[in-house]
Amino acid sequence: MRKTAWSFPAMQAAVLLAGAAVVSAHADSLPGEKIYKQHCAACHAIAPDAPMGMGPNLRGIVGRDAGKVPGYSYSPAFKKALAGERWTPQLLDKWLEQPQSVAQGTYMMYQQPDAAVRAAVIEYLVTVK
Ligand code: HEC
Repeated sequence: MRKTAWSFPAMQAAVLLAGAAVVSAHADSLPGEKIYKQHCAACHAIAPDAPMGMGPNLRGIVGRDAGKVPGYSYSPAFKKALAGERWTPQLLDKWLEQPQSVAQGTYMMYQQPDAAVRAAVIEYLVTVK
């Protein structure tokens, strides 16, 4: 089998979609913080008062209104699509799977087809207050 960055997660996602119970069991074994560092940290700071990256700071994002990090300039697409929305784990899951499907034209160039990877990173975000 070809070992590219994409083939393994895609395959894992296909297997894991078979059952939600399997997804959460697998998520428990994934280190969300490590995934955050590898997948998100290049664009998103998370330390308090850290300098702004390409994306907004994500400290305390779960439960917060979308698009409200002071001083960050959100795309018009984001502001329009997410006005009045709050980041729940469910909305984050949808966002990380395919940001363009939530806010077409958003500046966030990332997508994560693996439900277990999304669950792990969201679990981590919940803990960072
Ligand atoms: C290539 C850079 C990049 C990567 C990688 C990236 N993001 Fe983003 N993200 C952005 C940008 C840019 C925005 C602002 C989107 C806009 O204004 O359209 C954003 C916005 C967000 C928002 C909305 C924040 C708010 O203030 O409402 C969340 C949540 C988010 N990203 C989570 C993540 C997570 C979690 C990861 C890793 C799994 C990730 N992002 C990976 C660039 C990135």
